[in-house]
Amino acid sequence: MKREILLNLKNSPLEYISGEHLSTVLGVSRTAIWKVINELKKEGYVIESSSKKGYRLSSTSDVLNSFEISQELKTKTLGRNIVYLDSVDSTNNYAKKAALEGCEEGTLVVADNQTCGRGRLGREWNSPDKKGVWMSLVLRPEISFDEVQIITLAASVAVVQALYEVAQIEAGIKWPNDIIINGKKVCGILVEMNMEIDRINFLVLGIGLNVNQEKEDFSQELLDRAISLKMYMDQNANNQKILKRNEIIATILLKFEEIYDKVKCRAFEDIITEWKRYSVTLGKEVNITHKSKQYRGVAQDITKDGKLIVKCVNGSVIEVFSGEVSVRGLLGYS
Ligand code: BTN
Repeated sequence: MKREILLNLKNSPLEYISGEHLSTVLGVSRTAIWKVINELKKEGYVIESSSKKGYRLSSTSDVLNSFEISQELKTKTLGRNIVYLDSVDSTNNYAKKAALEGCEEGTLVVADNQTCGRGRLGREWNSPDKKGVWMSLVLRPEISFDEVQIITLAASVAVVQALYEVAQIEAGIKWPNDIIINGKKVCGILVEMNMEIDRINFLVLGIGLNVNQEKEDFSQELLDRAISLKMYMDQNANNQKILKRNEIIATILLKFEEIYDKVKCRAFEDIITEWKRYSVTLGKEVNITHKSKQYRGVAQDITKDGKLIVKCVNGSVIEVFSGEVSVRGLLGYS
């Protein structure tokens, strides 16, 4: 009955619906309706109640759950099996376990809160409750170990396209997989794999996107490098769209599905071309840190398998693999 009440409220976003109407349509008492409305409020739905007019769902509700995501979802396969968790150590850990137990390709694990979110290079990923999109997708692509980087590049392109579609935000990609707005990181991607000698069993594509954080939610150190969609929108008074994590997730999945089809038919060049369109790294001076050694040069291009080609100041040209290095632009974060 909860779903029915929710759907009734959603179908009439501007009007109040009376308790009497809901009780007639659903064949239950007004007290039962009132109880369910209270449960929905506890789940985070903002519902305006008036003793004379009834109930109205506020457009500011940003409640994350499987039902809400599937309402928005337009994909063929990705995200058709959704695991929603209030809190988890890491959605990537959970997705790995699910994959080992044989879950279907495209299984989505999403949480409101991560207690041990992980980033690249063993770093911690700050994942405060209800403030972001913390999601992992189980993939079983037929690609080799050497080609795995294409998934990261594809996912970065999908996130950039999704941000534009959802909120007309023009983001860029800092190689290999940081999504940047205004020179600060808004999203990171962590691809982890499980493989045998000659084949990949599965990949877990983890995406962490800062959505609702305010300045105060970041440490002073992070504030120099990180931003949320909300902070960006607040700076841009002409862009006041209400951000809904369900809509963002569904749009990322749709964009990723389009580009993942290209992975499946091995159109890697098309993915690289798209990635280059959004790159904020190519043509820039970069500092590469590899095993505590520093290299300085200009990022010239990326290889077919996603390595960054850097012309170093000493004239040598090196190809760097993302698993091993951190790259910093000389001017600002990107
Ligand atoms: C990075 O930029 O270092 C990658 C960050 C990836 C964070 C996401 S949040 C969802 C998923 N679960 C994790 O523990 N990490 C990824």
